[in-house]
Amino acid sequence: MTADEMKRAAAAAALEFVQPGMRLGLGTGSTASWFVRLLGEKVAAGLDVVGVPTSEATRDLALSLGIRIISLDDVADLDITVDGADEFDPAFNMIKGGGGALLREKIVASSSRRMIVITDESKRVQHLGAFPLPIEVVTFAAGTTLRAIADVARANGLSGTLAFRQTKSGDRFVTDQGNWIVDASFRQILDPKALAASLLWIPGVVETGLFVGLASVIVVGSPDGITVIDKPVK
Ligand code: 5RP
Repeated sequence: MTADEMKRAAAAAALEFVQPGMRLGLGTGSTASWFVRLLGEKVAAGLDVVGVPTSEATRDLALSLGIRIISLDDVADLDITVDGADEFDPAFNMIKGGGGALLREKIVASSSRRMIVITDESKRVQHLGAFPLPIEVVTFAAGTTLRAIADVARANGLSGTLAFRQTKSGDRFVTDQGNWIVDASFRQILDPKALAASLLWIPGVVETGLFVGLASVIVVGSPDGITVIDKPVK
């Protein structure tokens, strides 16, 4: 099974959580786009659902498939959000934002009764941090914010390269909200909750890719098949 086949299988398994009439958060990235494409097939066959996309890319994809899009502002909450992840640990902490959509992804997931995370086996880690942590920052005084991130990292016992994300053509990557992303290569994050809280004290930091306490279920595609893991009881 290729990684893409595992992602597709996880996305297909997540469709089992979808019921007619649901309001869905639609994630971003290659795994989430499998979910949107498979959902589009169901919608074409008559399934009645509405979606809130977490990026312009997902909005375009959903609309092209005939999925009805609503604004998050128009509903009290969403039934489920289905989204991918860059890393997840045994306590269901995650790093997200590899696709640059972490801010909208967190707003949408936080407004959902359940977040169903779809991944392949390669995303499972013992401790977060091998994947560089995306941190969304405002463009004003971004250098000052970068230095403050380094200070906060030090105070949390972390070090590593901090780099503004670039596009393939070498331009600075700009998020759908018009912000920049700092990718922080911390290698091992032992206390994701504490790190997220202290990074959010920096005025220029808009949001971090640390998703703590948000996932309800993680669906993992592997060569052996699909595993559905429920959030561990504390
Ligand atoms: C986008 C994300 C994605 O969910 C994450 O990067 C995983 O992407 P993929 O499914 O392509 O591996 O957080 O901001």
